Amino acid sequence: MTMETYTTYIEQQLSNPILRMVGSEADSMGLDCYVIGGWVRDLFLRRESKDIDIVVVGHPDQHVGDPDSPTSDPDKRSGIGITLAENVAKQLGKKAHLSVFRTYGTAQVKRGDLELEFVGARRESYQHDSRNPIVEDGTLQEDQNRRDFTINALAICLNSDRYGELLDPFDGIGDMTRCIIRTPLDPDITFSDDPLRMMRAVRFATQLGFNLDGETFDAIVRNRERLRIITRERIADELNKIMLSSRPSEGWILLDKTGLLPLIFPELVALKGVEVKEGRGHKDVFYHTLKVLDNVAELQSQKNNDQSPMTNHQSPIDPSGLWLRWAALLHDIGKPRSKAWDEHAGWTFRNHNYIGAKMIPGIFKRLKLPLNEKMEYVRKMVDLHMRPINLIEDTVTDSAVRRLLFEAGDDIDDLMMLCDADITSRNEEKKARFHANYILVRQKMVELEERDRIRNFQPPVKGDEIMELLHLEPCSLVGELKSAIKDAILDGIIPNEYEPAKEYLMKLARERGVIE
Ligand code: CTP
Repeated sequence: MTMETYTTYIEQQLSNPILRMVGSEADSMGLDCYVIGGWVRDLFLRRESKDIDIVVVGHPDQHVGDPDSPTSDPDKRSGIGITLAENVAKQLGKKAHLSVFRTYGTAQVKRGDLELEFVGARRESYQHDSRNPIVEDGTLQEDQNRRDFTINALAICLNSDRYGELLDPFDGIGDMTRCIIRTPLDPDITFSDDPLRMMRAVRFATQLGFNLDGETFDAIVRNRERLRIITRERIADELNKIMLSSRPSEGWILLDKTGLLPLIFPELVALKGVEVKEGRGHKDVFYHTLKVLDNVAELQSQKNNDQSPMTNHQSPIDPSGLWLRWAALLHDIGKPRSKAWDEHAGWTFRNHNYIGAKMIPGIFKRLKLPLNEKMEYVRKMVDLHMRPINLIEDTVTDSAVRRLLFEAGDDIDDLMMLCDADITSRNEEKKARFHANYILVRQKMVELEERDRIRNFQPPVKGDEIMELLHLEPCSLVGELKSAIKDAILDGIIPNEYEPAKEYLMKLARERGVIE
């Protein structure tokens, strides 16, 4: 982008009539107001951002809000933000929605997909055991001082006489051009005040493809234990943002290097390292896992750009692709527990998929990830991730493919993507052979699916009908017969159709002496 188009873009964004109106409302109240934080950062980085944080500066005595307003603020500390928000909402009329959070001294005005957050400029002081600060009125500079990173401390004035003026006391723009995450003040203070910022530092570095400034990095290492006062939910939010970045591995590597990883995710640390015995080593599962994760991220972005209806089936459980990424991160999590040395085979990891799948609920619970169908999806992916490769190694029988289709159901495309991503061998010939074999497996899946419709398998003869045909009361035999019909279909003994299934049922019933 040329400098000229860049400037035009910023001017366009700032010409938003709502921002101009916020400025003139502040003018008429005798207050200063600035757009600050993430929106300004994203403006310069050309990232889309809908939430606009507005900080208001002025003496409480200058507070000239409507005294009759039912939400007029008795708390003079930060009421100016609320009063400005009320006036802005009034100007916007019915299309705007105002929410006031009096305890926090903030107010939000929503209009369409635009969200404006108003708050009075503040100075903060922290106690050792909490990330909830004592807040007092402050100047703009004090408000900028308390922010986490230089790139998040930029402010743009909205008052008419200074409209568009940038206030960048810590050279945040310079850090953006140098691609650096750095704290405005002493990083030991910034991180000790609010240890969540250590996670935010890693997350921003990953999302933006930036590096951590050396002193900022060292301070995270020193303050890492402070992360213990942060709730798991907030940590999970940051982890999910790292996971949705274009190269999530970078976040996990930074978490490892800063020493935060063992505090969050010891099972992942256990994947690190290579053991060598009799000259034979296994691969480093940590770095292999991260490669698989990046591969999934890349395959997902290729798929999103590909409009072919064959390939862009979107899982209803995983519309953003986040949970397939978690499945990638966890696919080999059972390896350390299953690792064994065999005189002939060398290092083995038997049943690691099964052991890993069993670990998923505990990990999700501890990390405060959802314990619903999303967890079940990840558990299933981890459990099934070795099946396609086993199909390649054995001769690909129809029966084995049908069984995989049955178990993976609608998530079969995601499973195949995970398996493609799992091919990380450096041997190009081997890689090409695996990919080619997966293409064959996929072809076979398409053929069998067209013929047998296994993906969303519904038994052609239902339990009720089995009871009616065989004059049976509900009992375990009904389930056994139903399951025998399903197995016969999956094994290709009968087609997935009503009449053959009914005939097969009668034959089974005669063999078992249920009918004559
Ligand atoms: N902030 C901070 N310390 C935090 C959280 C937020 O200093 N622990 C400040 C930063 O100036 C940040 C602003 O508050 O830019 C808004 O925070 P938030 O909405 O959480 O993040 P954004 O920076 O807007 O980025 P994102 O929306 O990607 O989380």
